[in-house]
Formats: sequence, structure tokens, C-alpha cells
Amino acid sequence: MFDAIHKAAGALGAFVDVDLAAQPDHASLIRNLEVALDEHEVLFFRRQRLTPAEFAALASGLGSIETHPAYITLDDCPDVQILESTSENPSKIEVWHSDMTFRQQPPAVTLLYGKTIPTHGGDTLWASAAMAFQSLSEPMQRLLEGLEAEHDFAHGFRESLEEPGGVERLGEAVRENPAVTHPVIRTHPRSGKKALFVNPLFTTRLMGLSRSESHALMQLLFEHLTTVEHTVRLNWEPDTLAIWDNRTTQHRPVNDFLPQPRVMHRVTVAGEVPR
Ligand code: SIN
Repeated sequence: MFDAIHKAAGALGAFVDVDLAAQPDHASLIRNLEVALDEHEVLFFRRQRLTPAEFAALASGLGSIETHPAYITLDDCPDVQILESTSENPSKIEVWHSDMTFRQQPPAVTLLYGKTIPTHGGDTLWASAAMAFQSLSEPMQRLLEGLEAEHDFAHGFRESLEEPGGVERLGEAVRENPAVTHPVIRTHPRSGKKALFVNPLFTTRLMGLSRSESHALMQLLFEHLTTVEHTVRLNWEPDTLAIWDNRTTQHRPVNDFLPQPRVMHRVTVAGEVPR
């Protein structure tokens, strides 16, 4: 386990004081990251100096690297996605989500590296979907454990699709990512934590329920998940790195920094079929 680690909030999140580029034993670093992720769900590292290749190499220790159908990547390191938000093209993902739940096997882990950070604003919030499950009543937990939900890329990217040229840019991604279903409660394969696995960005309906039942229950779950006591908030600095487990957390950026630009580098690591 890391020597210098301290909790960032009650529910989830921890700051780890370590120079990731200077760790001599990659295997033991990865083991420590997994142990810390299982406990804290999202980890924050200030003042990191990783080249794009080192950043991708760190991510690949946690699993195989995935591509994203909607984001551009670095020319010299295609494993690294660029998330750029400017006045001309503001981010459209400021809605709570777990990454890419529109995939049959959504990514297990995401690494996000602050590159161009506005002088104020642009924080990211995370919520513990595991604590959100634990803090539900037992009858509600039992109901949810028997349910599945639909997740859809086209729903999550509908604003981008509606823009001029959106269908031309993302039409192929829509065809390649038809809607999928996942259990509403999933179990983390290593830690055994159970977590709520529906999100307002990609989840469209709860299977087997009427339209109004599905809508009402999803609204209740989305609100419950983001109860402030379930969350942690990171104020970015240039060269801060965050690593989170998508199986037990959800996140959302705060779009309060425009007209300043905000640029992040991101790598996503493949996961398993949620169960
Ligand atoms: C993401 O949703 O993966 C990015 C979050 C952020 O830019 O803060």
C-alpha cells in the first residue's frame, strides 16, 4: 500500500503523494494502485510529470487500453484521448455518468490528466455508486438487484448529434454502438462491492417496467446517487492526475470556466461484462 495517502472525503477519494514516473517497480506500483482503488474508488495525484507514452504505459498496467468513438487522440500517442472544452466547442458531458456504459464491456478504469487548467472552475465531481447502493433500504436493494437497464450511445451524444455535421461525424459510432442492457446493480470483480449502475447520461430505461415507473425510479436513483454525502470534488491543477474505477463510481465535470479553455488527456482501460 502507498505510504502517503489521505482521504479526500468521507465517501470516496484519496490523495496519494507519490511520483508515479519515478517508481522503479512497475508491477508493485500497479498492485498498490489496485488496492488503493478498491478502497478509495478514485485517486488523485498532484504534480505528475508523465510523457504521453509514460501515461499510456501506466494505464496499460491496469488493463488493455480502449479507444473512444467520439474523441480525437494525440497524433504521436493514439492511446491518449483529448478532451478539449472551449467557447466554440464546450464539453457536453456535464451530466453524471460512468464512462462508456453504452458498451457491452464498459471500461473498468479511467485516467484523466490535467493539461490546460482554467484559473478558476472546471472541477470534477465523483460519487460513490457503492455507497449509494449501501445506503438504500433493503427492500429497494432487493428490487434493484432483479432489474436490468438499457444504455445507449445515441442518447448520451444526442446534443452532439443534433449539431450541424453531428450525424456525419458520429453516425458511424451510432451504428457501431447499438443500445445494450446491463444489470442495475453490479458487483466489483475484485473487491466484491455492489454498486448502482445506472446513469443519467447513457441510461434510457429500466427493462420490464412501465414508462412512468421506469422514469420515476430512474429519477429517484439519479438523485440518490448524487446526494452530497456520496461525493467528492477535485479542484484541478496542471499536472494533476485522477484515476477512478468506473464500476463503483460516477463523475461529472463542472462547466463553469468558459471562456477559458480546459484540456484534459484521458486513457480508458477495458473492463468486463457487468454482473
Ligand atoms: C470524463 O467524463 O471522463 C471527463 C471528466 C472531466 O473532464 O472532468
